[in-house]
Amino acid sequence: MSYPIDMSITPDVSAHFDAATNTISYIARDPASNHCAIIDSVMDIDYAAGRITHDHADALIAEIESRGLVLDWIIETHVHADHLSAAPYIQQRLGGKIGVGDQIMVVQDTFGKVFNEGTEFQRDGSQFDALFEDGDTYKVGEMDCRAIYTPGHTPACMVHVMGNTAFVGDTLFMPDGGSARADFPGGDAGTLYDSIQKVLALPDDMRLFMCHDYGPNGRAIAWETTVAEQKAHNIHVGGGKSREEFVRFRNERDATLAMPRLIIPSLQVNMRAGHVPADKDGNPMLKVPINTL
Ligand SMILES: [Fe+2]
Repeated sequence: MSYPIDMSITPDVSAHFDAATNTISYIARDPASNHCAIIDSVMDIDYAAGRITHDHADALIAEIESRGLVLDWIIETHVHADHLSAAPYIQQRLGGKIGVGDQIMVVQDTFGKVFNEGTEFQRDGSQFDALFEDGDTYKVGEMDCRAIYTPGHTPACMVHVMGNTAFVGDTLFMPDGGSARADFPGGDAGTLYDSIQKVLALPDDMRLFMCHDYGPNGRAIAWETTVAEQKAHNIHVGGGKSREEFVRFRNERDATLAMPRLIIPSLQVNMRAGHVPADKDGNPMLKVPINTL
């Protein structure tokens, strides 16, 4: 293991499941202080109506306020394609820095073209407060946290390790859910396999928290597992599946998947760190590029 890890630190983790997008947002508190981070918040959208609301984010804010916590960080594990981030909305109320992987610039370049954004859309990640490189550390209260670069699902994916706990974003699903797709622009199944190996190289009893769960085969929604459980039972990578096996399987599966329902609004908002784009008069406005995704 190339990263120093302190398994004696157990952050307090509170999970908020968003049933509309099957996303799990987390509040992770430093056990030695009242400081916390939010990982992968959700902003609600009724896309058919063009209506954005904040019930999910308000629940996170209410919990932080009622527990008297200080919000240090608002982390995005990646640019999500299936839900909108509420990071700026939360930051406005509670403060904290918005952090994402520094390869966000690749994502911004790719989707800046897809959405034919003008020069006012900066492709330098400047919409975020911090851009993490592989192995970068930051603090939540007194707790050391580390971002590990895990591309493959998207070019900017990071896993965040805090003590004996890791927030894996979309590198892995629960063992019976397998792994995330790797066919978005900039995604790559082989790269995802390599990134998953980084997660599986963490200590066996490290707690892993998923970003999504779809309750496969009718089981109840779940989001917490361990490295050991993933290594033994993950249906896509467990039991020592080879890179070749995984790549073949992943590519075949991805060819059958429809685009996520909210990919068009999600990308436009999330590549701006959660800010809704505006038209030339400053009105919040989304585009639908035709036959480009
Ligand atoms: Fe994702």
